[in-house]
Amino acid sequence: MPQTILITGGAGFIGRAVARALVARGDRVRVLDGMIPQVHGEIHGEGGRARPEGLPDAVELQVGDVRDGRAVAEAVAGVDAVIHLAAEVGVGQSMYDVDRYVAVNDHGTAVLFQALIERPVRRVVVASSMSVYGEGLYRGADGRVREEVVRQPRPGPDAPWDPLDEEGRPLVPVPTPEWKRPALASVYALTKYAQERLTLMLAPAYGMEGVALRLWNAYGPGQALSNPYTGVLAIFASRLHNGARPVIFEDGHQRRDFVQVDDVAQAFLLALDRPRAAGQVYNIGSGEDRSVREVAALLAQAMGRPDLTPEIAGKARAGDIRHCIPDITKAREELGYRPARDFADGLKELAAWVAEQEEARDRVEEARRELDRRGLVA
Ligand code: UD1
Repeated sequence: MPQTILITGGAGFIGRAVARALVARGDRVRVLDGMIPQVHGEIHGEGGRARPEGLPDAVELQVGDVRDGRAVAEAVAGVDAVIHLAAEVGVGQSMYDVDRYVAVNDHGTAVLFQALIERPVRRVVVASSMSVYGEGLYRGADGRVREEVVRQPRPGPDAPWDPLDEEGRPLVPVPTPEWKRPALASVYALTKYAQERLTLMLAPAYGMEGVALRLWNAYGPGQALSNPYTGVLAIFASRLHNGARPVIFEDGHQRRDFVQVDDVAQAFLLALDRPRAAGQVYNIGSGEDRSVREVAALLAQAMGRPDLTPEIAGKARAGDIRHCIPDITKAREELGYRPARDFADGLKELAAWVAEQEEARDRVEEARRELDRRGLVA
């Protein structure tokens, strides 16, 4: 039976992909979105005069702030389930815009639940983040898996970037399952963990089901190219599109898992439907990890600019973790999640979309100066 789903933050990059997937299968979708200019640009941003590209016409768009109780009460009226994506998303920016990040992400989630207490829904699926783990799991030279690795400041410019064991040997990242204890390394991570916990605690207290997806690095067409605090692939794409070299923090050997946004949308639909998911947390990635250097090179190739070799900054952003890669077995087994998009195809598709974009303001230098000025890159 078709359902009515509210997606908070549904005009954003991930939200639009989820909305398209829901509409395609016949569900009704309402979106509540603040349409903030940092993400949507000035034209879209001011009062949401223009609908964002890629949001199906069938979607009801309500422009409003997730912290506004009245707007949220209106948004939850008559819906069967909620996908909660409304959030500020930059790790680096969260370390100085603390007030805004905590307000939007945590107070926003509190306001949402305040409305849901009055008007419960069947299920709430929240977008959590791999950042809640801090450093992922590592294996030492002795074969022992370490759960407790915490990133330490580097003692000097020649010190290795990778965490070391007691004897000074580098630890190797291994896939991180959901049972790893959180180790919050940024304000962003802290707010995502609070969103996740609020959902899993409050939903069952009021007869609802809560599910949290810990997302890895989502990419694909529709990313906010002019937002210098968005994900690394969109930032690199915007640089290359403007004929500039990507800037890589640290040495570029840090590893992540890049997951195509349609695969992320698939995960949200499964999390919404599968009875077994109630009360659970799932890692969502592609199952393949890569270094930032590798993705910079592959993207430059896909965009036809292999000449624009990356600049290696040799400095780290405050709040960044070194490595974290997912173990997605639980999502595969319990949700039936099957990430389908091949990375090379995903990059080709991203490159083709970027080539058509007129507005991709490269604001990376600005953002870097902002972090530098505050001593948040060292
Ligand atoms: C990202 C998301 C976060 C999400 C998480 C889930 C963003 C902004 N952050 O965090 O919302 O919850 O994934 O996995 O989308 N880097 C560079 N050069 C740049 C920008 C970044 O080298 O210009 C490096 C960073 O230092 C980091 C890596 O790329 O080592 C990934 O950074 P980023 O895309 O910001 O993602 P996460 O911090 O992993």
